[in-house]
Amino acid sequence: MRFLYHDTVGSTQDEARALYLSGERGPLWVSADEQTKGRGRLGRHWSSPSGNLAVTCLHPTTAEPSQAALYGFAASLAVAETIERYRPTKLVTLKWPNDVLVGGAKISGLLIEREAEALLVGIGVNLLSHPANTPYTATHLVAEMHDFDFQGPEPLFTGARAFLAVLANEVAMRFRQLEKGSFERIRLDWMIRAHGLGESVSVNGMTGIFTNLGPDGALCLRLPDGTESRVHAGDVSFGA
Ligand code: BTN
Repeated sequence: MRFLYHDTVGSTQDEARALYLSGERGPLWVSADEQTKGRGRLGRHWSSPSGNLAVTCLHPTTAEPSQAALYGFAASLAVAETIERYRPTKLVTLKWPNDVLVGGAKISGLLIEREAEALLVGIGVNLLSHPANTPYTATHLVAEMHDFDFQGPEPLFTGARAFLAVLANEVAMRFRQLEKGSFERIRLDWMIRAHGLGESVSVNGMTGIFTNLGPDGALCLRLPDGTESRVHAGDVSFGA
């Protein structure tokens, strides 16, 4: 595995894309201590101050676009598994499609982009701080480690590089599983952490019961008239 570290960049997605266009084929992790133009899903801004993890995994693939979406589930599961090593006793859940929550508050988000035969898997994890004024509740890793006394300097293990070393291993393991054709194992491990499974959710103007994660990564909803709807993109909110 190879890693590139920057102090400040616009977006690690753009750095990784530029490297791909100049011949880099990965796998390569491109990280930055700080991003000035961090991007989120659906064209949103992603706040990326120093101390949090901002990284893009440039991963070679010839997968069909429908298969490419599965990488997001593999990567977000790997993020959850990494966070569980730090916060084993508090519930880490996965919000469809690719958010990671701790105690119901967002700690990580993913942005997956495609460039010819590569995926740019962008991962942001709030380690030392989280933004205020987000439309959703947010948190950061250090805040969730209640039983640690952080009055002195931060221990190294909450630093972005230490976190990335563990995360990169977990992601590599899950990507290998996916590429061997075992999305089912990822799907089941994702499902046991699924936020709001069996509950009422609203997405794209529909409200129904979140019943399943489909084999293609679709959010399966049971609508009030008893029919099933499968959603492939959108923003989920919980409660009727
Ligand atoms: C979201 O939840 O909306 C996705 C956030 C993705 C943020 C990461 S940080 C590293 C990479 N570079 C970016 O500009 N975005 C992704």
